[in-house]
Amino acid sequence: MQNDSITITGGKPLHGTVEIRGAKNSVSKIMVASLLTEDNCVLRNVPSIRDVKIVSEMISVLGGTVEQVDKTTYNLNAKNLKLVDPEKLRSVDKKSRIPILFAGPLLARMGEAYVPELGGCEIGKRPVDFHLLALEQLGAKIEHVEKGFHIRAKKLIGSKIKLPYPSVGATEQVLLAAVLALGTTELSGAAIEPEIIDLISVLQKMGAIISVDTDRLITIVGVKELKGFDHTPIPDRLEAASWAIAAAVTNGKIFVKNARQAELMTFLNNFRLVGGEFEIKNDGISFWRGKKLSPINIETNVYPGFATDWQQPFSILLTQTPGVSIIHETVYENRFDYVVALNKMGANIKVHENCLGGSMCRFGSLHHIHSAVITGPTKFHGEEIVIPDLRAGFAYVIAALAAEGKTILKNISLIERGYENFLEKLQDLNAEVE
Ligand code: EPU
Repeated sequence: MQNDSITITGGKPLHGTVEIRGAKNSVSKIMVASLLTEDNCVLRNVPSIRDVKIVSEMISVLGGTVEQVDKTTYNLNAKNLKLVDPEKLRSVDKKSRIPILFAGPLLARMGEAYVPELGGCEIGKRPVDFHLLALEQLGAKIEHVEKGFHIRAKKLIGSKIKLPYPSVGATEQVLLAAVLALGTTELSGAAIEPEIIDLISVLQKMGAIISVDTDRLITIVGVKELKGFDHTPIPDRLEAASWAIAAAVTNGKIFVKNARQAELMTFLNNFRLVGGEFEIKNDGISFWRGKKLSPINIETNVYPGFATDWQQPFSILLTQTPGVSIIHETVYENRFDYVVALNKMGANIKVHENCLGGSMCRFGSLHHIHSAVITGPTKFHGEEIVIPDLRAGFAYVIAALAAEGKTILKNISLIERGYENFLEKLQDLNAEVE
């Protein structure tokens, strides 16, 4: 791809305001939910990011329409949904993980679904076995083909499903499949991330009956049909945290418009523990660095724990902190490859197979590198770096902003998957970016 690199000259504190929009990991799933009805659906405050474009493309190929009515509002309509030749979906092959979530709505509407090859960030094996098992338990027949899956079911039937791990995607899969199934589905071991609750809110607006009970139990009473919705998704808590860290690392101050305390509670606690300061206002949160940074131990976890997608940017803050900090990654088995480039820029990060920092996790004895010991403070120096995935990409941007000299970052289109207009935002905050 042309012009897929930027040069950042570090050393300038970031100051100003950035506005965040609907959460990437909410918006894309809500777009899929629009296929559950023939009615018109309205989605507001949609970010202009690549994941939205990929899902729009898949909906259009399947006969639906995605019409952008203004900068951030979309009308979605799937009245004319149709079965298409899988070859027509080759353009979305390996681009995202969202296509697997089309299964439930397509089965409900047409009794058949084709899921093209899945993609998404390479941060572990990321299998879809929980998705497929859940669909089978609801009565679907799955055929693995060379490039994807064919899934068939005349009618899905409610069932009792237990997830081995509270997977976000598998929980969304069950919600989107069970909502129009015959009878009731009880999902135990469900994920309860804010983006999932947002999806449930949309489904409730559409006419679904879904209860979120104690101990990760979600009960879905199947209904005959669903109607359209008008929805404004929750703001992106992952992007909000990324800008908070950029403010603290560069010793600047950023007001993140639309950032909301509720979904950021765990992040805010850890940000404060390490020495970050923040002020919560009605329309957003201001972030900056306090007088002194102190090392901490962090363990990523499912919600309400410390989100794995905060891990990579947060590691940059820990490189600026005097002393030894530990990150124990418990969601993905392989999310520390990105530290090699940080060490090249001057960081002192050592990775380990053991569960460090406190508790044991499911990766404990499996020889996955999933703990990191970060010794700071680091004075980064500019390097030429290739971005491997979305969150690592933004972490490198933050490191580059604090580095001495110029850093060339290649593959920046990966960042555009989840951060709207991030180059313009950086420039508005006074960063030196070419
Ligand atoms: N897993 C399985 N089998 C499955 C599904 C998941 O073993 O069938 C494992 C995964 O390999 C992983 C863990 O369960 O180790 C959690 O995966 P999960 O299904 O929760 O993740 P996901 O739905 O694929 C979403 C977000 C990710 C975010 C995770 C965890 C979207 C599009 N992606 O992925 O976001 O890290 O939940 O919160 O919603 C990002 O935004 O950069 C990003 C990677």
